[in-house]
Amino acid sequence: MGDFKNLVYEKKGLVGVLKINRPEVLNALNSEVLVEMSAFLDEFEQDKTVRVLVITGEGKAFVAGADIKAMHSMTQLEGREFSMLGHSVFSKIENLSIPVIAAVNGFALGGGCELAMACDIRWASEKAKMGQPEVGLGITPGFGGTQRLARICGPAIAKELIFTGAVIDANRAREIGLVTNVLPLDTFMDEVMKLAEQIASQGPVAVTLSKAAINKGFDSTFATGAMYESEVFGLCMSHPQAKEGFSAFIEKRKADWNKE
Ligand code: HXC
Repeated sequence: MGDFKNLVYEKKGLVGVLKINRPEVLNALNSEVLVEMSAFLDEFEQDKTVRVLVITGEGKAFVAGADIKAMHSMTQLEGREFSMLGHSVFSKIENLSIPVIAAVNGFALGGGCELAMACDIRWASEKAKMGQPEVGLGITPGFGGTQRLARICGPAIAKELIFTGAVIDANRAREIGLVTNVLPLDTFMDEVMKLAEQIASQGPVAVTLSKAAINKGFDSTFATGAMYESEVFGLCMSHPQAKEGFSAFIEKRKADWNKE
């Protein structure tokens, strides 16, 4: 993996862990961080030996938002470009072939909450604080918050959170479905790694195609999504991993996904 100023990447077996590493500003996202993330994701997608990516933040924050100091001097055009840059990076995460887990260790505000929402699964530590406080700065969310929050939690919750700029704790985030699990900070990363490893132990092609089918369904009608599901199901049936999965069950053994 290339050398990045604001990112730290570590491969632990079948799981990759990406840390946003700008703790002096609570990992705020400026253009430089986003460009690095984009390059990282392009390179990362080539590594077929990793089955799950975990994204987290260094220090007490996940990501405290887009960089307010950088945005302060932006023109209209620069603001639009900045928003589009964030969208392109977050959509790369959403469309990565393998699952991405947001390990929300601390503050995930504004662009940080939006980054977490672009991931497939969100788990939070008890220290996490989440929200879309942009309107308090006189701006709207710009990295997907108005779209993904409504899709994940429903429009009423999205409107309440975005209009008030409320910062919520981890338990409230779980109540509204923004995260699916809340854990003590001291065991947090260990538990996230167990989740990642459990996913990594499943049939890799089936996991990838399930992600694609769920994503496809959100962008289309039920009928189109269902048709896509049947296509990917058929694809699985023609893949050696399905034969291996069935055989392993029948022979009462663990599947070996590397078997051809
Ligand atoms: C730039 C930030 C920052 C941010 C924190 N810092 N958040 N710098 N952009 N988003 C910096 C602070 O200025 C400070 O630097 C250092 O990080 C530590 O932060 P403190 O405020 O001293 O920490 P604390 O008192 O613990 O408060 C934590 C906090 C607060 C509650 C998270 O930092 C905060 O409210 N941050 C802003 C959160 C926010 O509004 N996010 C949304 C941004 S808009 P110094 O130099 O003072 O030590 C957004 C738009 C996305 O995300 C879409 C764009 C297109």
